[in-house]
Amino acid sequence: MSEALIIDGKAIAASVTDEITARAARLESETGVKPGLAVVIVGEDPASQVYVRNKGRTAKACGFNSITHTLPADVSEEELLALVTSLNEDEAVHGILVQLPLPKHINENKVLDLIKPEKDVDGFHPINVGLLGSGNTDRALVPCTPAGSVLLAKKALGDDLSGKTAVIVGRSNIVGKPIAQLLLQEHCTVTIAHSRTKDLPDVVRSADIVIAAVGRPQMIKGDWLKPGATVIDVGINRIPAPEKGKGKTRLVGDVAFDEALGHTAAITPVPRGVGPMTIAMLMSNTLTAARRLMG
Ligand code: GUN
Repeated sequence: MSEALIIDGKAIAASVTDEITARAARLESETGVKPGLAVVIVGEDPASQVYVRNKGRTAKACGFNSITHTLPADVSEEELLALVTSLNEDEAVHGILVQLPLPKHINENKVLDLIKPEKDVDGFHPINVGLLGSGNTDRALVPCTPAGSVLLAKKALGDDLSGKTAVIVGRSNIVGKPIAQLLLQEHCTVTIAHSRTKDLPDVVRSADIVIAAVGRPQMIKGDWLKPGATVIDVGINRIPAPEKGKGKTRLVGDVAFDEALGHTAAITPVPRGVGPMTIAMLMSNTLTAARRLMG
């Protein structure tokens, strides 16, 4: 079999953000309104700081107003809730994202539930979860990583996923479950596999589309894949890389990428696969929220 197509998430994300930049410019020239994205980060987790910086930078590049609120790790829950309330009320803010995880003394659900569903560009609010689950994707704001993952699958398979069998490995609320909903909307036959699934390799081998979202480095092996499958690897895992020098690390996905290349038709790399799509979809949600809030 010929080697797999490596799906270039970075290039596809760049074409999505180019399109959003053009649409945002049109919106501003027609209405005077610039989409506004407020990102809230609590504490100094280095990975969160990198994500938040990238979100702010991309928002600016799209021509959005980008506001980052940095709060100390010991901020009270009341103060954080008060900030979310003020962002809910601020007409210049169309999208609100509170970077997770939050410090342990703060009730994450209480914060996420307070975000106005119409401004919930993460798509984590129960209203948006319900709208997605009931197939109302025209009214929901859809979580970014799931939306980006499905878009990559569509790009690799020529848009039409109808009738394909899809196996999602991982049942998280923020990745596995929403991807299942989106693939159902695309008329796939969907299985969600997880840590208690029996005969996981055989289940994965039944799939035309494999979505790996377990958070275990290189867990899904090449010979678990049906020849010709399309693989979307959502995992981002840091592992030791002694070949790069003492103490060095590298990023890998949930799929044993080198092995998989010989089995699959198409696969996303890590990095430069799903990761860049997450930010592009956040920009898309912010523009969508701005348009809807203007009525
Ligand atoms: N932390 C890691 N991923 C995410 C995400 O998609 N949204 C938010 N808010 N926090 C995160």
